[in-house]
Amino acid sequence: MANVTFSSPRMAKDITVYAVAGDRGTVLAVAKQHKIPIPFDCQDGNCGSCVVEVVHLNAPTKYSKYGIALTEEEKETLRQIGKISKDEVYEAEVNDMAPRHRLACQCFVRNEDILVRFEGDETLP
Ligand code: FES
Repeated sequence: MANVTFSSPRMAKDITVYAVAGDRGTVLAVAKQHKIPIPFDCQDGNCGSCVVEVVHLNAPTKYSKYGIALTEEEKETLRQIGKISKDEVYEAEVNDMAPRHRLACQCFVRNEDILVRFEGDETLP
């Protein structure tokens, strides 16, 4: 079961969608499929415009029950936009622990419920 709840000041209310097995893809792909207005540009982990906060709702700790493997590109982009700390990089590299922020275009939805928060570009309507 994978419920993905999207929350943002850009939306009138939170929206929860069910990502079915085999049709999960990235957080950005699920968002686009359900017309959730997460900003994006490159869709390739380079620009940082799709940054989101991911909360793992059913995890025993604040971390996902699944190990994550951040790509060098995602780490570097998160670093450049100031959304990942040195400690989070260490936890990701050594213990496969997910950092608080992810790039929606690089973060895959898995078999767990998550809350995805995003701000977005406030200049857009
Ligand atoms: Fe550019 Fe995700 S859209 S990093």
